[in-house]
Amino acid sequence: MQVIILPSAAAIGDYAADVILRGVAERPSYVLGVATGSSPLPVYEALERRWIPELAGISAFALDEYVGLPYSHPESYHSVIDREVTTRLRLDPNRVHVPDGFADDPAAAATTYETAIRDAGGIDLQLLGIGGSGHIGFNEPTSSFASRTRIKTLTPGTRSDNARFFSSPDEVPLHCMTQGLGTILDARQVLLVATGEKKASAIARAVEGPLTSMCPGSALQLHPDATVLLDEAAASELTLRDYYRFVFEHRPKWQR
Ligand code: F6R
Repeated sequence: MQVIILPSAAAIGDYAADVILRGVAERPSYVLGVATGSSPLPVYEALERRWIPELAGISAFALDEYVGLPYSHPESYHSVIDREVTTRLRLDPNRVHVPDGFADDPAAAATTYETAIRDAGGIDLQLLGIGGSGHIGFNEPTSSFASRTRIKTLTPGTRSDNARFFSSPDEVPLHCMTQGLGTILDARQVLLVATGEKKASAIARAVEGPLTSMCPGSALQLHPDATVLLDEAAASELTLRDYYRFVFEHRPKWQR
């Protein structure tokens, strides 16, 4: 795992956009895995600012969706992805996919989602945030490392963190449909972004803690091409943070 500590959320956005734009320029049928929440917003801002025509041809798959929120609800991830990703990056809406949390048969919808990812050729780069519980996607603690897209129950902590997007905490749905940890680990490359002191403990457990389903983010230790982009505050509980800085400053030319 590569850990990169950058001076600001804007610098993180630019770094991630560099990686994504390089991939998109090389591969016209690029498949981008997109996250919602606050963490990836600087990445979408940078991609919007540095838009290239090739972006219009990519496919995108969202990580997760609430169960039972109508697609038109402003906080459904269908709406959020449409607003923050499809519109801003001028993607083709027919190639942007979000799990169907409003389906009559959620289990069938989850299987259909897995099939759609496979049919698109798999995800080239999965963008991730991390929750205070250590979740990636909405894979809450004790999620299986082999899990695929399915229904999960949000922890009270996650519901309270996400209450800021709703008019009352009770409005935050109890359930979600999320790509599994196995689905995320299948992406060819993963890029996790985290900023702020509130993420420091989850980051330390995911990056330096034991591999454990109690911290689903620790599953990324199994991924052969995982990069974690952090600001100083999010990196503050990492034991080896000076080493990560040293590694980045002395990275060989071919890695720059
Ligand atoms: C969102 C998602 C979640 C968030 C996490 C952090 O699609 O899958 O894992 O990335 O809850 O949320 P923020 O970035 O709002 O702190």
